[in-house]
Amino acid sequence: MSSRRLDDVIVDPATYADPGKCDEIFKNLRSEEPVRWTEPEGYRPFWIVSKYQDVLEIERQNEKFINWPRLNLVSIEEEERVRAGSGKGSTNPLRMLVNMDEPEHRPHRAIAQSWFMPPNLRKLEDNLASLAKEFVDRIGSLDGSCDFVKDVAVWYPLRVIMQILGVPREDDQKMLAWTKAVTGSHDSEMSGALSGVASRQAAIQEFFQYFGALSAERRKNPTDDLATVIANAKLDGRDIGAFEASSYYFIISTAGHDTTSSTVAGGLLALMQNPTELAKLRNNPDLLPSAIEEILRWVSPVTHFFRTATEDYVLRGKQIKAGQGLMLSYPSANRDEEVFPEPFAFKVDRTPNRHVAFGYGPHLCLGMHLARMEMKALFRELLSRLEHLELDGDPSWIKASLVTGLKRLPIRYRLRQKVA
Ligand code: HEM
Repeated sequence: MSSRRLDDVIVDPATYADPGKCDEIFKNLRSEEPVRWTEPEGYRPFWIVSKYQDVLEIERQNEKFINWPRLNLVSIEEEERVRAGSGKGSTNPLRMLVNMDEPEHRPHRAIAQSWFMPPNLRKLEDNLASLAKEFVDRIGSLDGSCDFVKDVAVWYPLRVIMQILGVPREDDQKMLAWTKAVTGSHDSEMSGALSGVASRQAAIQEFFQYFGALSAERRKNPTDDLATVIANAKLDGRDIGAFEASSYYFIISTAGHDTTSSTVAGGLLALMQNPTELAKLRNNPDLLPSAIEEILRWVSPVTHFFRTATEDYVLRGKQIKAGQGLMLSYPSANRDEEVFPEPFAFKVDRTPNRHVAFGYGPHLCLGMHLARMEMKALFRELLSRLEHLELDGDPSWIKASLVTGLKRLPIRYRLRQKVA
C-alpha cells in the first residue's frame, strides 16, 4: 500500500467496517511508524498515535494536549458546514464535556460524576436485571433466530440511557432518530432506516425543545434520576443554562448508546467465534467481570479521539508542533504487543487487562461503570439461559470512523424459558 493511499484509507469510514483490515493497518503502524504524520485528501493533516504508552502519555497531559477545537475525524467540508450552521465559527455544534478543557471541564464533569459512581448506580441493579430479562425474553419468543443487533443490541442500551434521563419508552425511536441525525452516519443503510428528521440543525432544535420541557418539569418535581441532577445543576453559583443542560443530555444520550450497543454485539460475536472461551465462561460464570473487560478490549468501539498540542513536544522521537492534531487510536493501543500478550487472542480470563477502551486521564469515560453493569446484566441473563448458539449468516459492520460496530448479527439459538 503506497504511503499516500494509507493516509486516505485511515480516514475512510469503510475501513472500519473491515476489522481484519484495521488490525493489519494498525499492526504495521505500531511496528513501522507508531507516530505517523498523515495528510489525507480532504482532511486537515494530523499525527496518528497507535501505541498504548503513547496514548497514555498524551491523555494524561491535558494542559499540553487539549480537546478543543478538534475532537474527531471530520472532513474539511463537514467542518465548514458545521461552522456555518453553528453561526459561532465553531466546528462543533454543541458545547459538550468531551469538547471542553480546563478550567471549564472539571466543574461540568462534576455535575454528574457522583451520579455515575458505583454507590449510586447500585440502585439500578434490579432494574437492569429486569430490562435484560425482558430483552432476552423477547428473542426467546421468536422462532429461534434473530438479528441480535436489531432485536437487542440497539434497543437495550438505548432504553437504559433513556430511562436514566427520564424519557418514556414511546419516545425511544424519536431519540434514536435525533441523535443519529446530529452525530451523522456515513452508512447509507443506517441513515436510510432513520428517516423523518429533516436536517441536523432541525434535529438539534427538536432535541433541545424536548429536553428543555423535561428540565423544567424536573426543576418543579425533582426525582432521583440523572435528568433531575442536570436540570438542577449549578455552575459558578448560577443555574445551569438551557444550552449547557441540553448539551449535557445530548452527550449522555449519544456517548452511552452506540458504544454499548457495539460492545454487546461485538462481544457476542467474539464468544461465538471462540467456542472454547464461551464454554469456559458458561462453566464458570464468575469469569463474567473479566470476560466483560476482554470484550471491551476486543471490540474497542471508539476508534479514536483527537487532541491538539498547545506547545512543541517530542513523542517517540517525532517533533509535534504546537497546533497540530493527534489521533489517538484506542483499538490499536488495545492490541499493542508490548502490553497485551497474544493481543489477537480473545481470552475471557485475561489478567491483567488494563485496556483503554474507555480512554484514560481526565476525560476517562464518565459512564464506564454503568456500561459494565449493563453488559454484565445482559450477558448474565443470556448465558444462563442459552442451550445453543450459532451464527446464522454473515455479520456485517457499519461504515463509521468514530464509533464502529456490527450492523447485522444473524444468530440461531435455543433458550431456556425462565420462570418469573
Ligand atoms: C462500552 C461502552 C462505552 C465505551 C467503550 C465508551 C468509551 C468512551 C471513550 C473512549 C471516551 C473518551 C475518553 C477519553 O477522552 O479519554 C468516553 C467519554 C465519555 N463517555 Fe463513554 N463509553 C461507553 C459508554 C458510556 C456510557 C454508558 C455513558 C453514559 C451514560 C458514557 C458517557 C461518556 C461521557 C459523558 C464521556 C465524556 C467524558 C469527559 O469528557 O469528561 N459512555 N467514553
